[in-house]
Amino acid sequence: MMKKMLVLLAAAMFSLESMADEGMWLPSLISSRIKEMRSKGFRLTAKDIYDINKASLKDAVVLFGGGCTGELVSAEGLLLTNHHCGYDAIQRLSSVEHDYLTYGFWAMSRAEELPCEGLTVSFLVRMEDVTGRLAAGEERKAIIDAAAAEGKGYYASIEDMYYGNQQFLFVYRRFSDVRLVGTPPSSIGKFGGDTDNWIWPRHTGDFSVFRVYAGKDNQPAAYSPDNVPYKPARHLPVSTKGVGEGDFTMIYGFPGNTQEYVISDAVDYIANVSDPMKIALRTKRLDIISAAQASDPKLRIQYAAKHAAVANAWKKWQGEVLGIKRLGTVDKKRDYERRFAAWAADKPQYAGLLDSMRAAYARQEENYYLYELYAETLMPLELPQMAERALKGQGSNTMARYYKDFDLETDRALAKAMLAEFEKRVPDGRMPQALAERIERHGSTDAYIDYIYDNSLAGSEESVAGITADDPAADFRKVVTDNYPREYRARNLSDLKDIKRWYGPYLKALMEWDKERPFYPDANLTLRVAYGSVAGYEYADGEYHRCNTTLEGIIAKDNPEIYDYDVPQALRDAWAAKDYGRWGVELNGHMSVPVCFLATNHTSGGNSGSPIINGRGELVGINFDRTWRSTMSDVEFDPEKCRNISVDIRYVLFVIDRIGGASYLLDEMTLR
Ligand code: ARG
Ligand code: ASP
Repeated sequence: MMKKMLVLLAAAMFSLESMADEGMWLPSLISSRIKEMRSKGFRLTAKDIYDINKASLKDAVVLFGGGCTGELVSAEGLLLTNHHCGYDAIQRLSSVEHDYLTYGFWAMSRAEELPCEGLTVSFLVRMEDVTGRLAAGEERKAIIDAAAAEGKGYYASIEDMYYGNQQFLFVYRRFSDVRLVGTPPSSIGKFGGDTDNWIWPRHTGDFSVFRVYAGKDNQPAAYSPDNVPYKPARHLPVSTKGVGEGDFTMIYGFPGNTQEYVISDAVDYIANVSDPMKIALRTKRLDIISAAQASDPKLRIQYAAKHAAVANAWKKWQGEVLGIKRLGTVDKKRDYERRFAAWAADKPQYAGLLDSMRAAYARQEENYYLYELYAETLMPLELPQMAERALKGQGSNTMARYYKDFDLETDRALAKAMLAEFEKRVPDGRMPQALAERIERHGSTDAYIDYIYDNSLAGSEESVAGITADDPAADFRKVVTDNYPREYRARNLSDLKDIKRWYGPYLKALMEWDKERPFYPDANLTLRVAYGSVAGYEYADGEYHRCNTTLEGIIAKDNPEIYDYDVPQALRDAWAAKDYGRWGVELNGHMSVPVCFLATNHTSGGNSGSPIINGRGELVGINFDRTWRSTMSDVEFDPEKCRNISVDIRYVLFVIDRIGGASYLLDEMTLR
């Protein structure tokens, strides 16, 4: 009994200690964190993570496509990422006869692997702090060009850290012959669909398998049947032992966008202006799309990807608002800024800084709001886009792809709702004259939209070829794009030039003043390390969420009537027969197969597909999501509530082996 108590106590202390897991660190500077990582269970060294002279873990991690992460798991170029990251490539390869999204796909030999046109993966060759070189007068472009000339397939970029207080050169090697090796059916890879997206407990087998190919010299090469599997400098061994509560975890990947240092004005805009507006607008769009989908199975399929795209950020923002309010981020930041201002008061270089920043926000907020309003209402309307594309002379193949998933009546309903919202929300004096005139001429926004949708030749693929510039949809699109405030387009309000320029000095000042704070640069789609541990969390008062899920939960959700929960028969059969082979384990009180798990790593969009690695550098899962209540971590990370969601590598192996029948793939992995 006593012994058990001691173990529990130790576990409790451990979990307290493993709390402070905020941060996404630059791999080349990871040595500053190694002591803490080791205290949490990391067994390797800084050089194992990043080394320019020898192979290191970084050589097994890639930027997958334009905004995901992937990892190499064999000496023969085998790569794992998420199903939702491979989705576009899988969709492009799919047809009615070969519907890989619905039924999955498994190459049974190298010859059956499918080339993915346009898909690339990039390895980081090296990174270098070039702050000094730039300060000494070296030219940015010259540094980049020289780095890009270092090798075949190389490209480079210089990225700001801490709003330009540091600049890093990133040199990448890009491979463009990437082939699909396997994917589970969507009923596994997208199990739970948009309903379960951002949700825990989760049961999504969100993975897909690719292979990187190279020329015979192992260098990047354009697709050729003569290419051979790329031999990476390093691949990740795969742990078949799994992880449990309290185990060390590390995420190695490419997070896209965080804003941890913005001042209260920016957070106030996000939580009280921008997110609420975007959520309300997307709720309207989703209601219209969902109603259309429910009315007709054809529309359900046509609008599935669009629904997913609109719903993803919509849910994320809702969690972000809740989280920011719960944490009181705006007030906390105001207080922080008061203390900062008191310190800065007698330092001429910093004294007026916050006032300048506030003035810049006051100047720019409406401009950015206007940009966001256009982006969420008028810009996405499809009929006007079709008209514009046709006028620009897009080929009939491209047009056919768009029309395949286009429904005139659904788009008309969206247009009516969004034009009405635009008119209602547009700030005083910012309504374009040309648009106001057209609405007035037709009597109402609805009547104007009906006029466009009744008369445009862009309504169908057959008629669109005859379109001219005075087509009503083309005319509408021109009015919209002519007035679209391009100059205020930016990832975040705080990235507008007029605001951003103050953040360089502000961050510099913060670092001088707030000496205890562990600073890490905001995410900007450069390679980062986040560390933490496997952990459940208190979801609500009295409601604890365990850190892992199993096949039992999939079966419990099974419902052939509901598209998102229609479990594939092979999985039902395996469960009924308890036919788990080597993948069955005793978990949560029964013999089952582990499916997903939670951990405390600080992640963001772009970290999808990232390897989640144990203390010995072995792959234990693939990161794919966060819980929606943790999404304010892009603004403020809360160690108590923020959890990233990964698919357990044992479920990945189980699906490849038992459901896909592609066990030969396991033979080329390094299983431990
Ligand atoms: N929420 C995850 C991310 O932000 C997964 C999105 C894809 N899945 C979906 N059901 N829409 O990318
Ligand atoms: N699902 C996200 C991605 O695709 C990850 C996240 O936002 O947590 O990168």
